[in-house]
Amino acid sequence: MVVANELAAWHVLQRHYDSEAKQYIMRELFLKDPTRFETFSRQFKGSLTDADILLDFSKNVITQDTFATLIQLAKEADVEGFRDKLFSGEHINFTEDRAVLHVALRNVSNTPIYDNGKDVMPEVNEVLDQIKNAANAIGSGSWTGYTGKPITDIVNIGIGGSDLGPVMVTEALKPYARPNINAHFVSNIDGTHLAETLKKVDPETTLFIIASKTFTTQETITNAASAKAWFLETAKNESHVAKHFVAISTNTEAVTKFGIDPANMFRFWDWVGGRYSLWSAIGLSIAIYIGFDNFHQLLSGAHDMDNHFRNAPLEQNLPVILAVLGIWYNNFFGASTHAILPYDQYLHRFPAYFQQGDMESNGKYVTREGTAVTYQTGPIIWGEPGTNGQHAFYQLLHQGTKIVPADFIAPIQTHNPIANGKHHEILLSNFFAQTEALMLGKSKDEVLSELGDISGKEHIVPHKIFLGNRPTNSILVQKITPGTLGALIAMYEHKIFVQGVIWNINSFDQWGVELGKVLAKKILPELQNQDVTTVSSHDASTNGLINYYKAKRN
Ligand code: F6P
Repeated sequence: MVVANELAAWHVLQRHYDSEAKQYIMRELFLKDPTRFETFSRQFKGSLTDADILLDFSKNVITQDTFATLIQLAKEADVEGFRDKLFSGEHINFTEDRAVLHVALRNVSNTPIYDNGKDVMPEVNEVLDQIKNAANAIGSGSWTGYTGKPITDIVNIGIGGSDLGPVMVTEALKPYARPNINAHFVSNIDGTHLAETLKKVDPETTLFIIASKTFTTQETITNAASAKAWFLETAKNESHVAKHFVAISTNTEAVTKFGIDPANMFRFWDWVGGRYSLWSAIGLSIAIYIGFDNFHQLLSGAHDMDNHFRNAPLEQNLPVILAVLGIWYNNFFGASTHAILPYDQYLHRFPAYFQQGDMESNGKYVTREGTAVTYQTGPIIWGEPGTNGQHAFYQLLHQGTKIVPADFIAPIQTHNPIANGKHHEILLSNFFAQTEALMLGKSKDEVLSELGDISGKEHIVPHKIFLGNRPTNSILVQKITPGTLGALIAMYEHKIFVQGVIWNINSFDQWGVELGKVLAKKILPELQNQDVTTVSSHDASTNGLINYYKAKRN
């Protein structure tokens, strides 16, 4: 494999950047080409769902030559070949010797997908049926608690991929929520998270969903044990646990040891990465909250996007386009972050979800061959919903010294057209205005004429100039429905995949989170040991901090 910056297209892009592209002014590119919007926008429509996405990428610092070379880069990096490996179950997560088959979980077409020569679809469908039965039983009230009352509250206990997906999707699809079910999420080991949640629920009508792929994650297992102790304080009898605790895991042994009946266990498989697991039984809380049919639509929307990613030519392919544009700024313009800015309150956890999705996937410094990369890999992902962000950090986007490429996402139709739709039109006017302002900027002449004839204006003028030329993608969806959301999430997943292929890294392991976990396990007994007042097994700073804490805690 030729590493990214040795590919011919990479060299062409570098020369293109140095000789002309770094001086491109988008405002001028728009003046020169009145059809720029048509040239640089693509529409995606689902065939199984109502998923409907417009990607306008015309407000990027590119010409047709730039775009063609970026697509050529994807070709030379063999994105098409890797895409086939992904869908055919090759063990592309080679450091863990695993296939990467989250696409099988939403393969509603039910065509065979193989891992180690075995079609995984029968097992996927079996668990899907189990999810359906549980979601229907809880939603209809036929799953009752130990005193015979229907379940009214579900508490998902999990962290990382076993939390962020269900939280993000249940928030995004609130308009589809069943009126009789409240969903809560506990992730942090900070006891406050569990304590505050338990204040809101009743042990007689609460179902705890313990979501952990490994069932060894310290936060989740500790929170689950405390939740069980809280439940038993009222329920008294261990046999009542069966109606109030279910587990989602790949680890039957640990689930049984914890005291959950394997009959109440929802399986998944090592070929599902944690950050790609909301489509698996990890999505149980979603299926209960919005109902199984809506959950199925979510899967179908993602499958629609999978089909698009698999079949559309690269220059028409939304995930590929987003990926190569990201590389253009990350690797040639030196941008180190990427903002995701949803103009939809329901999507308020979308950026946080893709912080894990992207940064845990592409936060890698070693190539597939094991040598240190000589170019930048994954960007820092961040963002907040508009218009709140406008009143917080957009100043830096407009007039700061850093380039922050950003995705603006908005629905054409709102679920809440209050005040005759006035709120939504104000929201969208801001959505359109921000990308326009970021692109156009404001020239000295414009500032001068705006200021008119006031005295001393020369001191003010520089402060009011906006350089503009800040790149954005605009992503307009028809409405945040389960189908559209599924497609949107899958679009970003595949974008991350394509970038990882081009950077020649393994996007599917996460060894980087291990070291901190291991060290915390070493420190815990040192904190717990009351007989030792002074520890000396660490560096001076860590010893100092631990000893300061031990001295002051009582
Ligand atoms: O933070 C590391 C990580 O392994 C994530 O990849 C994963 O989503 C999370 O921990 C939770 O893991 P588990 O589902 O095994 O509890």
